[in-house]
Amino acid sequence: MSRIAIGSDHAGFLLKQQLADVLRDLGHKVSDLGAHSVDRVDYPDFGEAVGRAVAGGDADLGVCVCGSGLGIAMAANKVQGVRAAPVPDVLSAQLARQHNDANVLCLGERLIDPEVAVQAVTAWLDAEFEGGRHEGRVAKLDALGT
Ligand code: RB5
Repeated sequence: MSRIAIGSDHAGFLLKQQLADVLRDLGHKVSDLGAHSVDRVDYPDFGEAVGRAVAGGDADLGVCVCGSGLGIAMAANKVQGVRAAPVPDVLSAQLARQHNDANVLCLGERLIDPEVAVQAVTAWLDAEFEGGRHEGRVAKLDALGT
């Protein structure tokens, strides 16, 4: 089981709540970094919070939700050591782990069916980084900006 930091803005709040419940039901230790309501907030604050939790070692993995999944991924990816992947479907989520070793998964509440979002998160969690030819590429990703 993993320690998972989860965060959203107002536009991702409802899906974030749903995903947090699913992750808890699966036995993960979920740390909810907000938002805590649908009151309007700024997605960079929550992408940063999730990114820092993962990069700092307080969480093994992170899940981020905003309206599109894009802005909050951009924010999380500004934190050194974060590999955040905004994904529109289950296969992308699986590949984000297998090839890119994504440590943060980002979803867009306004764009994805909630059931698909749950399947995407579980596919990402169940998948394993394949290493091999992907190892050096991920190392280059991590070296960017250092
Ligand atoms: C909020 O309206 C929306 O812009 C935000 O949730 C996200 O989609 C940005 O990338």
